[in-house]
Amino acid sequence: MPVFEPVDERPPEWTRRHLLGLQALSAAEITCILDHAARMRDRFASGERKLTSLAGVVVGNLFFEASTRTRTSFSLAAKRLSADTVDFTASGSSLSKGESFTDTALTIEAMGVSMMVVRHSSSGAPELLSRRLQASILNAGDGTHEHPTQGLLDIFTIREQRGRIDGLTVALVGDILHSRVARSNIWGLTKLGARVIACGPATLVPPQIRKLGVEVSHSLDDILGEVDCINLLRVQFERQRGAFFPSISEYAHLYGMNGDRLRKAKQDVLILAPGPINRGVEITPDVADGPHSVILDQVSNGLAIRMACLDLLNRVRGAETAA
Ligand code: NCD
Repeated sequence: MPVFEPVDERPPEWTRRHLLGLQALSAAEITCILDHAARMRDRFASGERKLTSLAGVVVGNLFFEASTRTRTSFSLAAKRLSADTVDFTASGSSLSKGESFTDTALTIEAMGVSMMVVRHSSSGAPELLSRRLQASILNAGDGTHEHPTQGLLDIFTIREQRGRIDGLTVALVGDILHSRVARSNIWGLTKLGARVIACGPATLVPPQIRKLGVEVSHSLDDILGEVDCINLLRVQFERQRGAFFPSISEYAHLYGMNGDRLRKAKQDVLILAPGPINRGVEITPDVADGPHSVILDQVSNGLAIRMACLDLLNRVRGAETAA
């Protein structure tokens, strides 16, 4: 494993200036981000309060869709690296006066913003900006496509708890069809050697998902005994056009994680959820707050992952800009 100082050197395997998804990354690149995040976290655990790697860099948070944890986490991560940050939200902006998404982003770039964290309801929006702008683009969730930093922090949390990813069985439960978190987890976990099971009602688990190298199950009870980790995805009501299951209580009955199911699962099973969590739907409060849950660890680890991503992309951006 290469040893490097997060503050001074760019790991040789990192050469990208954008982070658009985990699909394009190799296992070595994903591991590079995870290792960098671990070092970031250790430095802060040992008392450091701020690194200077992004001093003088302006990071723009462009959130065209609702977010609590991702936006706050990116904002704090940028500040901990000494960046200046500007927040931009779609409501109340010139978008409501008819300006295009790209023109808005170009305007923000012209003010000196050189890294942009982008969340958008359209799949592909961050990639579009990466083609038109000089700035480094970080995808903070685009439509139903990818949410790479969420996938990375989920994988980081599993690796931290279990010491490895290779050989583990991970179930992604719920609304696979509309979940960008599911897609990023699938790419990342399979590249690192995990067995992934996509579990949910047939209407929410597209059969083509098998092409990504995952198994499909429509019964959570059937797979409980064989999984090491269960990642409970929120039902994405805002993206659904139509009824995908008869009622929320039926969904909770069949796919919700509760105390009874926990007792049938492996003794050391890990319970993850990207959040926001809907208590009583995909997870009951006793499980969400219980000893198997790593939901709040995921949130803390998200900060280290986002610091690592900002730092790595900035090293490449900075070197290219200087060249
Ligand atoms: C996820 C998202 O926005 O895709 N949330 C998050 O970033 N923590 C998952 C979700 O909204 O269900």
